[in-house]
Amino acid sequence: MQSARLSIDGNTYELPVVEGSEGEIGVDITKLRAESGAITLDPAFGNTGSCTSDITFIDGEKGILRYRGYPLEQLAGNATFLEVAYLLSFGELPSASELASFEKEIKAHTLLDEDVRRFIEAFPRTTHPMTVAAAAVATLSAFYPSNPNDAELTRTNIIRLIAKLKSIAAYTYKHRTGQPFMYPRSDLSYSGDFLQMMFARPTEPYKVSGTFEKTLDLLLVLHADHEQNCSTSTARMVGSSGADIFASISAALGALSGPRHGRANQEVIEMLQMIEEAGGDHQPFIERAKDRDDDFKLMGFGHRVYKNFDPRARLIKAAADELLAELGADDPLLEIAKQLEAAALEDEFFIERKLYPNVDFYSGILYRAMGIPTEMFTVMFAIGRLPGWLAHWKEMKDDPNGRIYRPRQIYTGPTERDFVPLESR
Ligand code: SDX
Repeated sequence: MQSARLSIDGNTYELPVVEGSEGEIGVDITKLRAESGAITLDPAFGNTGSCTSDITFIDGEKGILRYRGYPLEQLAGNATFLEVAYLLSFGELPSASELASFEKEIKAHTLLDEDVRRFIEAFPRTTHPMTVAAAAVATLSAFYPSNPNDAELTRTNIIRLIAKLKSIAAYTYKHRTGQPFMYPRSDLSYSGDFLQMMFARPTEPYKVSGTFEKTLDLLLVLHADHEQNCSTSTARMVGSSGADIFASISAALGALSGPRHGRANQEVIEMLQMIEEAGGDHQPFIERAKDRDDDFKLMGFGHRVYKNFDPRARLIKAAADELLAELGADDPLLEIAKQLEAAALEDEFFIERKLYPNVDFYSGILYRAMGIPTEMFTVMFAIGRLPGWLAHWKEMKDDPNGRIYRPRQIYTGPTERDFVPLESR
């Protein structure tokens, strides 16, 4: 085992080095403060590992993404979302019988308590779907027992959440549109059932489009996990206090709802629509994104980890071309997106900062083609990411040495001073 050496004020400290299974190197500073009195400082944690993990490996320079060692490119199109959810949760791809019983368990939990349905109906129809989802998931702890230290109950709640989040999302959509809710159906696949809960009506039979079912399942697989991103770290952080699984996932939904994170997929489409309404010329928006005095960002561009390309963006872009060709449709926003990408990739500002399309840049084109409204895009991201959040939450809970997450800080405020009575101020 290598070690790192750190000198502070003439004293040298030996720090152990941890090497991951893919050769990543981490300097273990667990004992740094006790030995030196110093801490490290890394705002936004760009250089800080919060844990070791067996779940997902990303190489940002090479554009590598693997779930439990399986390359995303091999899982995409070959494994269903529930196969991937099983892989992330339990560490191995399921056998046919394991998958069949997992699917059966999920289908047994898709119904929501009628009071949860009424809870969703109590929201103003214009409430953002992520607000409803975060609240509804937190509310599940009022309906279902949870004990983070009970492995069997935790497993059941992992199943419950994967089964119920899509029902919460679909109910939210029906409530927003004033349409009657469609109950889940156990004769359909996970993605097929979501589509029927969203778009079926009690007045006539509904046939799930095989093309849309396949496309949605692919999108869910591509979003299923992404190691220590903001929302996953949030699920781990909240769970580390001993909070229950529903509160932890509700917090992750809150983190994902931010435009720098999951809500970017909605903001990309709004940006492309803005460009279209302004006549379709993307250049002024490229210039705005480069202007330091303008807080406008090219939504769907840039990534903390990927510095050459986001493998998911490539797969989603190809799927968008394929779906629109199969539908014989075209989407003017896709053309604008491609022109924007081409222009940005030739612009020194973006090249210098290694800004490329991320997972959110093209995903909205696919959701639109399936008739899913823009404000639902981020909750679609959440349905996909849920197995990842749950796998990381469970990995954190299963750590025998697990402790509450509690970062330190460097204080830069006023030094000690005496209280000044009100009459003297
Ligand atoms: C996701 O972490 C994950 O894994 C996330 C995710 C997942 O699967 O969980 O991949 C999902 O959240 C993808 C990202 C979705 N967000 C967006 O598309 C929003 C637009 N992107 C930016 O906000 C930004 O790129 C972030 C938030 C994604 C990354 O931010 P960083 O790593 O903190 O980078 P930064 O802000 O320090 O940017 C470095 C430079 C800055 O310029 P300078 O100060 O060096 O001059 O690049 C510029 C930034 O201003 N920059 C952009 C830009 N992104 C970064 N300039 C214009 N447009 C952009 N999109």
